[in-house]
Amino acid sequence: NKQNNDERFRPGFHFSPPSHWLNDPNGLVFYEGSYHLFYQYHPYSNKWGPMHWGHAVSKDLVHWKHMPIALFPDEHGAIFSGCCVVDWNNSSGLFEGSHGLIALFTHADTCPESGQPRQRQSLAYSRDAGHTWHKYEGNPVLAEDELLDFRDPKVFWHPQSENWIMVIVAGDHTRFYRSKNLREWSLTGEFGKGEGSHDGVWECPDLFELPIDETGRSKWVLIISIGDNPNCPEGSRTQYFIGEFDGNTFINDNPADHIMWLDYGRDNYAGVSWSDIPEQDGRRVIIGWMSNWKYANETPTGSWRGAMTLPRALSLTNRNGGVILTQMPVREIEQLRKESMSWNDVAVTPETPFMQKMNEDLLEIEADIDVRSGEEVHIGLKSSGQSEIVIGYDPEHQWLFIDRSKSGVTDFHPSFATKHGAGMVAVNGKIKLHIWLDRNAVEVYADNGLVVLTDQIFPDAPIEEVGISTQSGQVVLDSLQIYTLKSIHIP
Ligand code: FRU
Repeated sequence: NKQNNDERFRPGFHFSPPSHWLNDPNGLVFYEGSYHLFYQYHPYSNKWGPMHWGHAVSKDLVHWKHMPIALFPDEHGAIFSGCCVVDWNNSSGLFEGSHGLIALFTHADTCPESGQPRQRQSLAYSRDAGHTWHKYEGNPVLAEDELLDFRDPKVFWHPQSENWIMVIVAGDHTRFYRSKNLREWSLTGEFGKGEGSHDGVWECPDLFELPIDETGRSKWVLIISIGDNPNCPEGSRTQYFIGEFDGNTFINDNPADHIMWLDYGRDNYAGVSWSDIPEQDGRRVIIGWMSNWKYANETPTGSWRGAMTLPRALSLTNRNGGVILTQMPVREIEQLRKESMSWNDVAVTPETPFMQKMNEDLLEIEADIDVRSGEEVHIGLKSSGQSEIVIGYDPEHQWLFIDRSKSGVTDFHPSFATKHGAGMVAVNGKIKLHIWLDRNAVEVYADNGLVVLTDQIFPDAPIEEVGISTQSGQVVLDSLQIYTLKSIHIP
């Protein structure tokens, strides 16, 4: 049954396109009461192709409304990733004394002289809050002929220097440009050669300042996605750096070989943050493409392909003398909760596993587990068929993992059926897990978002049981809460 196959993995509460192919989130901006989500979109196929910007809007980051395609390919090429900002003071001169939205994005085509791929930066503007878009007649606004990979501009207003700053990637490094009018850009600095991971080409940068917990201090966060490398089983993934931005360039606080990952699952890529969220709100909210270039074109979803992660609020926290990023889904997600069930002080042994049948398959699970006995604990999400997704913690190796090797449809690519995870220390012998389960994905947040794993899954039938087990000894569920969740209907 084709219809059934097409819609079986349609997420209940993650954003997905009405049909056809989606990749990176683009142009994330809050303006006149709406969150805008544009995205890399190929409206004629469920595989990557000439890129357009798809568009959706939301009042709460949870319920989305599909909008017409915002940007189509033109004489300068396809529309690759980029950003939007609100031009509040008409510095572009395009809004006749008022304000409006500016999109800066990569135009990708082939250079007629060299026959090589060419990537140049262009501008589009909207005078009606993102409904209709006009390409700027002076496009492209930024070209560097010697750079083959030069893309994914992210722009922000920097009040200290009174400039618009563009952070953009150039293969193995990121560059910084400044502008007074969003149209003319001059290079101010470079960062990244020999820094962090270079497993793949650098893509989709973001740069912003965040406070550190309640210290009153702050740091700059540079996010860099790195493309797939055939020799790396992880495929495409996202790293970040902590440091300073002096108005010209980024200065890394950590040694060049220190690598930090945003997510230890396999499906969180090209994430960038919303621009212009009002200051009184103060949040930095990021969303990622919930797939991986390793197998993105093969996932078994049918006529649509690709979805976004949950939107997440970012924070910085001090750990072991260093500053690191933590993330949790935005609080608005709580409105999805329907029924709730809870348990306390449940001892789990090989003879007495915890088992709860569910009659719904959209779930949020919060588990505080005492692992002081040193036994490995498994949270198994089982379908009525043969599928099981295991979220586990191994106290001996201090390792949190997801095993999706028996999660259902996995044979579309050899790199999909894996068990993978991250180092994580139990605090006072306890671990705290917060899990969101959708029809196409599972997101695991440990220790209030210190360690995150985001994975796509394609179960053979709906998940209908939550089991918690151990092979030997005993673990204790200090507390366990399971919510069933509403599905969002996208009109
Ligand atoms: C990242 C990326 C970007 C590019 C876009 C093309 O996933 O490769 O670098 O702009 O996708 O769709």
